[in-house]
Amino acid sequence: MSGVVLDGKKIRDEILEELKPRIAAITRKRGLPPALAVVLVGENPASHIYVRNKIKTCQELGIRSVEITAPQNISTRDLQDQLQPLIEDSSVDGILIQMPLPKQIDPEDIVTYAVDPLRDVDGFGAPSLGRLVQNKPGPRACTPAGIMEMLKRYEIPIAGKKAVVVGRSDIVGKPMALMLLHANATVSICHSRTQNLAGECRSADILIAAIGQPALIQAEHIKPGAVVIDVGMNRISEESEAHRIFRGDPAKLGSFRKNGSVLVGDVDPVALREISSAYTPVPGGVGPLTIAMLMANTVEIAEKRPVQAS
Ligand code: GUN
Repeated sequence: MSGVVLDGKKIRDEILEELKPRIAAITRKRGLPPALAVVLVGENPASHIYVRNKIKTCQELGIRSVEITAPQNISTRDLQDQLQPLIEDSSVDGILIQMPLPKQIDPEDIVTYAVDPLRDVDGFGAPSLGRLVQNKPGPRACTPAGIMEMLKRYEIPIAGKKAVVVGRSDIVGKPMALMLLHANATVSICHSRTQNLAGECRSADILIAAIGQPALIQAEHIKPGAVVIDVGMNRISEESEAHRIFRGDPAKLGSFRKNGSVLVGDVDPVALREISSAYTPVPGGVGPLTIAMLMANTVEIAEKRPVQAS
């Protein structure tokens, strides 16, 4: 059996296309386009790539973007001071603090300080999380919201199904579990201390892997015919690991030889393809949806906010 590919780029393009007339209408009505501020602290290479892609997508759509950068060693106090003008700039609709922040900064101290609940475009603040727990409308974390959108657009049934989320991060695992629960799945969350992880995962009709460990989820973890969503984005540069994971995949091994590294998800790609009934590839599955949902959240917030005086 070979699972159906859940094509994140296709769904992203659909979502972005649907946003265009809404962005035009906001811009006409207010005389100002929707605006998104992105705060990037430190030198995390992956964060720099994510932020660049977010800003590029804003530009393509006609969303104004504001980028604020701060050095790796900045203190909480100094970062708060640096964000003050942004907080006071009411022409900005959404504010996003790129995670992870450097170790000395507690994300809560920045998100609570700088991101008021009406502009919490990432859904990371406590009020937004409270609304998620209560299943009330509000901005939702972009990666799990994108996964829900993908399942909906591919008409994958959720109600009554057994869903297993591997990973308990604030950004993906926990909000994902709640969203699946609100869609009436029976949900388990697994993590590094879970006993018999393979057995738990094998009970899943819908398996979400969000642990950040290359190909941790193997054939023995996947129930035949399950829908498997791979949130992982791990770069491997060890040749023996690349050969072990991408056995018999000349395209991937060729790409490894050319670039000296290759991206792999949290799920073994051969098992993913051969055992699931549908799956998200890495790259090209979940990744594109995160940005699409960020744009959708920005537009949604801009539609609800009062017209700004210029
Ligand atoms: N880091 C990894 N994913 C995300 C995300 O969706 N939002 C933010 N702000 N940071 C992230």
